[in-house]
Amino acid sequence: MILTKMTKRLILRPLTAKDYPKWKKAHDLMLPPQNEWDIAKRQKIKTNQNEFVKLITDYNKKLKSDEFYYLSVFDKKTKDIIGVVSAMNVSRSIAQSAYLGYFIYNNYWKMGYGKESVNGMIHHCFKNLKLHRIEAGIDPRNKRSIFLARSLNLRKEGLKKRAVFLNNSWSDLTIYSATCDEFGYKWKW
Ligand SMILES: CC(C)(COP(=O)(O)OP(=O)(O)OC[C@H]1O[C@@H](n2cnc3c(N)ncnc32)[C@H](O)[C@@H]1OP(=O)(O)O)[C@@H](O)C(=O)NCCC(=O)NCCS
Repeated sequence: MILTKMTKRLILRPLTAKDYPKWKKAHDLMLPPQNEWDIAKRQKIKTNQNEFVKLITDYNKKLKSDEFYYLSVFDKKTKDIIGVVSAMNVSRSIAQSAYLGYFIYNNYWKMGYGKESVNGMIHHCFKNLKLHRIEAGIDPRNKRSIFLARSLNLRKEGLKKRAVFLNNSWSDLTIYSATCDEFGYKWKW
């Protein structure tokens, strides 16, 4: 299974134990929270190296079992970590689908990295993971994420009511999706 995806400026790959200093640096460089969905809004990262290794061991176990692919986004030149893209809840059988997750550390916003890394992840999902369909569930108020989905020509499919439990209540999500044929891939399952 191919686990790394290259784009023009970026490398998308699973974390390894050696990435701890880069991962810590990425968190340390974040600006104050820019909006409600910004990961900088969460508590300051206090994870030490041992906890980090446990975390990535868990991610990599899920990756090996074809459940959840968590890839960090590295700048090809500086090798710094600038974000994360993931394919969650991989469903094989008759669906061959996954949910997309993504964030860019806020000191790198508005430079096209979100678009480049999510586009790379979509191609990775279709080409290397041989999925048929990907979906992104976006809070209807999350304008930046909606602009990103639109800029990649993802299809707006509708509002999924009370889809996720966040901050003590059930929130609606707007579903944006694509199937592999729309990105130039055709598979026989
Ligand atoms: C959403 C997020 C990933 C976008 O990252 P980014 O690197 O700033 O995005 P990009 O610079 O690639 O911009 C993406 C597209 O949106 C467009 N865009 C962004 N803000 C815009 C605005 N206010 N008005 C119009 N277009 C806008 C950009 O122009 C670009 O499209 P283009 O290349 O066709 O011009 C980032 O804001 C983030 O991490 N947010 C917090 C986490 C999150 O919301 N994750 C998604 C959960 S569903």
